[in-house]
Amino acid sequence: MIQKSFVMIKPDGVSRRLMGKILSRFEQKGLQVIAVKLMQISEDLAKTHYGEHEGKPFFEDLITYITSSPSLAMVIKGEDAVLTIRKMIGATNPSEADVGTIRGDFAMDTGRNIIHASDSPESAKREINLFFDESEICDYSIVDNIWIYE
Ligand SMILES: Nc1ncnc2c1ncn2[C@@H]1O[C@H](COP(=O)(O)OP(=O)(O)OP(=O)(O)O)[C@@H](O)[C@H]1O
Ligand SMILES: [Mg+2]
Repeated sequence: MIQKSFVMIKPDGVSRRLMGKILSRFEQKGLQVIAVKLMQISEDLAKTHYGEHEGKPFFEDLITYITSSPSLAMVIKGEDAVLTIRKMIGATNPSEADVGTIRGDFAMDTGRNIIHASDSPESAKREINLFFDESEICDYSIVDNIWIYE
């Protein structure tokens, strides 16, 4: 099923100049970027986005990290995009992430794991609505899709 996922390059990924390399991985896979926004995330937005983790020992550090410097928020579309992108980013702890995944190749520490992606279609819907207006999402078609999908 064609899905949309919310993906965000976190402050460490942006500030380590990894935006281009990470975006290239999604493009070369055949996924389609349909919205991007470089933004400094407010404390309120960070707390809503990561609301499920409120009360956990790492929560305050997570909010400080995510609001410390700009992040690149994106919507990415494709067949089974949610699961495909979760596989591409790798395990939460970069030391457990497979080589070849984004966290496995570019990160060392759970608290600096450079990228977020929605973990279910329901989270994707919630997160896309949280970060983007409908009018900011570009639903265009690309001609090479005939070579990417049967
Ligand atoms: N034990 C921890 N110590 C420090 N930071 C943590 C820890 N666990 C989680 N985090 C931070 O909180 C984020 C959210 O944790 P979650 O369990 O949702 O993992 P995830 O779904 O792989 O990551 P994300 O939601 O950012 O895509 C992690 O990506 C990481 O930045
Ligand atoms: Mg998560």
